[in-house]
This record gives sequence, C-alpha cells and structure tokens, in this order.
Amino acid sequence: MSPVDTTPTPYLAELSAADLRGRLDEALAIYVEAMGYPRGTEFHRAPMWTEHTGRPGWRGVAAFAPDSDGNPSMVGIAYGYRGAPHQWWYQQVREGMRRSGAETGAIETVLGDYFELTELHVSPRAQGHGTGGALLRLLLTDRPEARVLLSTPEVPHEDNRAWRLYRRLGFTDVVRHFRFTGDSRPFAVLGRPLPLRDQPPR
Ligand SMILES: CC(C)(COP(=O)(O)OP(=O)(O)OC[C@H]1O[C@@H](n2cnc3c(N)ncnc32)[C@H](O)[C@@H]1OP(=O)(O)O)[C@@H](O)C(=O)NCCC(=O)NCCS
Repeated sequence: MSPVDTTPTPYLAELSAADLRGRLDEALAIYVEAMGYPRGTEFHRAPMWTEHTGRPGWRGVAAFAPDSDGNPSMVGIAYGYRGAPHQWWYQQVREGMRRSGAETGAIETVLGDYFELTELHVSPRAQGHGTGGALLRLLLTDRPEARVLLSTPEVPHEDNRAWRLYRRLGFTDVVRHFRFTGDSRPFAVLGRPLPLRDQPPR
C-alpha cells in the first residue's frame, strides 16, 4: 500500500496591501526559508516589501494551511506590480537587454507594458503540490498588462522547481546570465504574454 499524503490542501486568498504589511513577518519567513537565505535577511527586506505595497498596480496573493492548532498559517506568498521606467528593476533589465544585443524596438515592446512578478515563494514543507503554480495563476488573473516579467537565479540545467514552473507556464528568455548591480549571482529574466488562459491548468 502506498503512503497516504495527509498534507492539508492550502487555500488561496487575495491580500490587500494592509494585509501583507500586517503579516510581513510571516511572509518574509517563507521567503528566507524557501530561498535558503541566512536568517536576518528579512530585516533588510522588510522596508523594501513595505514600499512595494504602495506601488501602482500592486497585487498580492497568499496560500494558507491550518497549523497544528487549526489556525490559518501562511505557506505561500506572491506579489508584483506594474513596471515603470523610473524603477530600478526596469532600468537594470533595459540595460541587460541592450547589452545582450536587443534592438530598441524590441526593448520598448517588452518593457512598454508589463507586470513585474516580484516575489513568489512557497514554504518548503508545502512545495510540490501545485501551490506555487496556483498562486501565480491567481496573481496574473485579469491583469491589464500585455506581459509578465520576472527574474530568477540561474541554476544548472534549469533544474529546480521555479524553473520548471516558469517553463511549464510558457515563460521564455528575455535576458540570460545577467548580473544585477550589487549582486554577483547570475540571473535570468523571463517573460510571457498575458493573459495566461491559453495554458493548461498545470
Ligand atoms: C518556485 C516555487 C514557488 C514553486 O512552488 P511549488 O508549489 O513547489 O511548485 P508548483 O506549483 O510548480 O508545484 C508543482 C510541483 O508539484 C507537483 N504536483 C503535485 N501535485 C500537483 C498538483 N495537484 N498540481 C500541480 N502540480 C502538482 C508537480 O509535478 C510539480 O513538480 P516539479 O516541481 O517537480 O515540476 C517554490 O518551489 C519555491 O518557493 N521555491 C524556492 C523559492 C524560489 O525559487 N522562488 C522563485 C524565485 S524567482
């Protein structure tokens, strides 16, 4: 007999900016654990995530599952906002595209009307059940932008859950092996047109 998976199925909820600010510690704990960052990283990130909640077009979603006392505990978080030319990330990606040889028209098309998927994290204990994909689909539902862009660390052979999820959902390369100012790790910038509705459910 195969083992029965007793993990409770998380439910998804839209977060207001105030909701996220009120549950920032919980959300940042997921981020630090999922990314394998050293403890303390959350203190640097808290002001940035708080500032992001005030950006035009900000939207956040979360996944919850009951903890051992039956109270809802956050197990996944995703948010993003509308990209704009004055933003640091926009300028970095524009420079990355320029350096990789993209023509001005192509850069304008890609960066002209996009939603930046800024954060997507699922607690390691809740991964592998489709929660990350469900969060991403909910976050992108009815977005007015023409496309979604994101950056993710490069990993050998694109072999991690994030890469598999993005490829499964039809994300393609915008810039590869890009180094953002102040970070020595190579990143990929990926994107795809919106809406997502032409994609299969997983
Ligand atoms: C990337 C991340 C958010 C994905 O979340 P997730 O819930 O683990 O991923 P998915 O929604 O893709 O889960 C689907 C996986 O579960 C499996 N699965 C099991 N049951 C499933 C179901 N009912 N529906 C869909 N998938 C299911 C799929 O086969 C898939 O397996 P795979 O990852 O080996 O391809 C998560 O792994 C994470 O937080 N990673 C660390 C942080 C990170 O890299 N974040 C992104 C930075 S840009």
